[in-house]
Amino acid sequence: MLLPEVGNAPSVVSSRPNEDLARRLFTVRRHSQVLAGPLTAEDRCVQAMPDASPTKWHLAHTTWFFETFVLRPFAPDYRVFDDAYAYCFNSYYEQVGARHPRPMRGMLTRPSSDEVTAYRGHVDVALERFVASDVIDPEAARRIEIGIQHEQQHQELLLTDILALFALNPLRPAYRPHSASKIASVDAPGWVAFKGGLQMIGHEGEGFAFDNETPRHQALIRPFLLADRLVTNREWLRFMAEGGYGEPKYWLADGWARVQQEGWKAPEYFESRDGEWFVMGLSGAQRVDQNAPVTHVSYYEADAYARFAGKRLPSEFEWEVAACVNGLRQMFGACWQWTQSAYLPYPGFRATDDALGEYNGKFMVSQMVLRGGSCVTPDGHARPTYRNFFYPWQRWQFTGVRLADDAS
Ligand SMILES: [Fe+2]
Repeated sequence: MLLPEVGNAPSVVSSRPNEDLARRLFTVRRHSQVLAGPLTAEDRCVQAMPDASPTKWHLAHTTWFFETFVLRPFAPDYRVFDDAYAYCFNSYYEQVGARHPRPMRGMLTRPSSDEVTAYRGHVDVALERFVASDVIDPEAARRIEIGIQHEQQHQELLLTDILALFALNPLRPAYRPHSASKIASVDAPGWVAFKGGLQMIGHEGEGFAFDNETPRHQALIRPFLLADRLVTNREWLRFMAEGGYGEPKYWLADGWARVQQEGWKAPEYFESRDGEWFVMGLSGAQRVDQNAPVTHVSYYEADAYARFAGKRLPSEFEWEVAACVNGLRQMFGACWQWTQSAYLPYPGFRATDDALGEYNGKFMVSQMVLRGGSCVTPDGHARPTYRNFFYPWQRWQFTGVRLADDAS
């Protein structure tokens, strides 16, 4: 068996191979290739907009992550596939070095798709040898776990970015066959009451969590009500029909400016055909399913809708309390839910000084927290304490709305 020498003198080592870690690592690595399977080389290269990345870039960047943070520092016999790739596929890690500008990722016609596939194979072989070792440095194991979670995040981005690309194509291509929504709601929302008081928020204990979910801490919550389902397309169409996009009283100032600037009249990917609303999705353009949750709305739109409905968005703490104690419908698996909470560090949070400390902490300004998980979030990736975050005007992710209210 080919086993690399791993570290000269690791301070603490695990006593046996981590079979579960290895199994999950290669399951996730293979799944990225499966997701890219329906896409042509042309599909994989083009960048729909500066916020999105090409599929080929996602496949290479997630590979670069393992090469940079696991293999280079912890596998002494590892041979770097191509030194030039670090410049191409570093996303935002200042401590790692200079990088290709994000809005120009779609210009990378080289390396080719085949070369990126070979890059993935090269790194996977090295990872297989590495995790087969009897001794894995605990820090390397921690980084492999982060790499798994990171690749899952990019699997979701791969799909949202392909949708953004296909939505710009007049052929409205389908990434996959259409299947009826399993998450429709036909009944009126129910309202579930939650008590106020000091509640524990954030992750602690077993299982993976990102650093931004810690430290676990107390938060004071007032009694509140939460809708037991997401806002539907039927409800959103009523908002549109009653002039929601044309009435400034519903909108935050920044949101109203964005409505004017971008000409918003409907969620992203909605299109009117002969007076009927269609929506572009991963199965191509389909008639809007009125009972499905509305998706691809910005924070500004979610907030405006809540005001129109005489309600408000939940805080991220309210959402987490509800997710932990009550099985409300559509908390996970439909769409990410905007909260009214700014993305801020929890009390006592300190990002680490190393490059991986740049993963979450440096983005804690000007963005809003989303909770839950979407129909393209990989299975097992989300959890009640998970904090997603995007800028309030962004709407190419699978983002929707759950209403909240104050309890009297
Ligand atoms: Fe990344």
